[in-house]
Amino acid sequence: MECRICSGRLHQFADFGRQPVSDAFGTPGGTASEFFFHLAVGVCEDCSMAQLLHEVDRERMFHDDYPYLSSGSAVMRAHFDALAKRLLATELTGPDPFVVELGCNDGTMLATIADEGVRHLGVEPSGGVADVAAARGVRVRKDFFEAGVAAEIRAADGPADVVYAANTLCHIPYMDSILSGVDALLSPGGVFVFEDPYLGDIVERASFDQIYDEHFYFFCATSVRAMADRHGFELVDVERLPVHGGEVRYTLARRGARMPSTAVAGLLAAERAARLTEPATLRAFAARVAANRDDLVALLRRLREQGARVYGYGATAKSATVLNYCGIGPDLVSFVCDTTPAKQGRLTPGSHLPVRGPEAFADPYPDYALLLAWNHAEEIMAKETAFREAGGRWILYVPTVHTVGAS
Ligand code: SAH
Ligand code: TYD
Ligand code: ZN
Repeated sequence: MECRICSGRLHQFADFGRQPVSDAFGTPGGTASEFFFHLAVGVCEDCSMAQLLHEVDRERMFHDDYPYLSSGSAVMRAHFDALAKRLLATELTGPDPFVVELGCNDGTMLATIADEGVRHLGVEPSGGVADVAAARGVRVRKDFFEAGVAAEIRAADGPADVVYAANTLCHIPYMDSILSGVDALLSPGGVFVFEDPYLGDIVERASFDQIYDEHFYFFCATSVRAMADRHGFELVDVERLPVHGGEVRYTLARRGARMPSTAVAGLLAAERAARLTEPATLRAFAARVAANRDDLVALLRRLREQGARVYGYGATAKSATVLNYCGIGPDLVSFVCDTTPAKQGRLTPGSHLPVRGPEAFADPYPDYALLLAWNHAEEIMAKETAFREAGGRWILYVPTVHTVGAS
């Protein structure tokens, strides 16, 4: 197996077996043709990039029925609004600035830019969510971003001051094409800013459910710096973010164009000290994950024996890995509630738990709720205080299996 970035040798460190497409919520009775692939992860001995060993075709994951909506969390809406305002204040200050977002989804970030009348373009292959963005006044091109698309945008709209991507770059295996596209599109002094789940947080929290089909790469400063270098870019800033269970926002500029911040050297040193990208560290992570799986299954079986009622909360893409790796079916968790209209009335991929609207949660409340959207724990627990007041308990499996609530 070869590294998708540099063709170096990959060391496998975790294997989650047969897994479905994480956002493919099937219809009841329509799951016979479900697609599965082998979910395994390795790390490159040359460039240190952690990555999946097997790739799912992009059209299987991102299409007109792709259900994920960026606007589904109030915390994320505020996060993207703040980022848009910061870009407007710091990077988009020239006479006629232009920003391109890869994977703009329903336009949550770009809507703020559009409202300010600033030139922008979202590149989004999933037609349904792209239509939502367009309806909000966001200019969208329905396409997978890649080198050819970048050249067309450059020819039509001129250079971009900022190329931005949130939770999208790590979804794209064909990185050579992406980075040469960004190279063609970006102005000489422009920046490529992207934020994705951070390998350091995944390892520290044993948050193995960040590993699924769409998350092809698991970035850290060490691997991103090496990746940038191959295309004449330099890593000039890193910022740790609390969202989605721990992310890093990376800023790349053309080599020599900007002075790297001290945060870059700081994070690189911390990664070296933690031996973050060494196979032994990552194998130890995988061993903790297997132990957490056993604990979670044991807890759910015990609760079933006690006759407790258990629901899932949040039909996340992440939950596909948890449910399928742990073998959690409707016998252990009755259903999952979720606010996303396109997931309701469907079944979770592979594990076939029914997905119901949020109103089902209180009708009646379960004894336990498995928090599959644990990355939104604060937001969800704050709006579901009545559940705990009624004696309900949350089950979390990150960083270890534990329950929260009435004793
Ligand atoms: N940026 C949003 C959405 C993340 S989901 C947020 O952070 O909430 C990932 C998005 O990337 C999906 O909407 C998917 O359709 C899109 N995507 C996948 N491959 C892409 C590509 N090559 N170019 C642009 N977008 C892509
Ligand atoms: P998220 O964790 O953002 O992403 P992923 O699918 O990539 O793992 O998904 C959150 C899911 O949880 C999404 O389907 C919406 C749902 N959700 C609720 O049902 N209620 C809520 O209050 C929040 C914040 C999310
Ligand atoms: Zn490599």
